[in-house]
Amino acid sequence: MKKTLVISAHPNIAQSTANAYILDQLNESTSTTVRHLDSIYPDYQIDVATEQQLLQDSDVVVFQFPLFWYSVPPMLKKWFDDVLTYGFAYGENGDKLKGKKVLLSVTTGGPEEAYSSTGYNQISVKEVLVPLIQTFKLTQMEFVDLNVSYAMVAMQHGEEAVLTKAKDHVQKLADQLAAL
Ligand SMILES: Cc1cc2nc3c(=O)[nH]c(=O)nc-3n(C[C@H](O)[C@H](O)[C@H](O)COP(=O)(O)O)c2cc1C
Repeated sequence: MKKTLVISAHPNIAQSTANAYILDQLNESTSTTVRHLDSIYPDYQIDVATEQQLLQDSDVVVFQFPLFWYSVPPMLKKWFDDVLTYGFAYGENGDKLKGKKVLLSVTTGGPEEAYSSTGYNQISVKEVLVPLIQTFKLTQMEFVDLNVSYAMVAMQHGEEAVLTKAKDHVQKLADQLAAL
């Protein structure tokens, strides 16, 4: 069984519908370690050694987050900045992440059609996330797949509809992980 590490960020998980549900479901799996960074580091002081050790101990890394201003929530950006250090993730002897598989697991507020050439964003979520995909390339990780659930704002679309989509999201993620 591949060891899976889920790195997630959401600054207000108590108010979350989608990410809270997805993380709860992922927590049920014994081969998966789920880290909600904002809960672990409420003061934003990331324990870099711990995070690097967890990465080294894993085969697969899933990044679970809501899209925030076409990017990741602040805690996840800080995690990249602090944890992917020279000599660990890149540069001389910086090959500790080589070959680790990565899945991006994302929820959006915008509808699917908005993330198309004719939609108001004009580009896809995969194109939005190019800086992450490029980071995986530089750190020799293997970006495998993207799992996106669109229109996930419970206040807008209703909690039940969002939870139904979140359930499908978890199933798709399980299938993606099983295929590795
Ligand atoms: C600060 C902020 C920025 C956001 N930026 C985007 C965005 O750029 N694109 C988008 O589709 N949704 C955006 N959203 C909507 C969130 O992605 C959406 O609320 C979230 O995926 C719902 O998941 P949750 O129930 O776990 O909070 C934003 C939400 C917030 C609060």
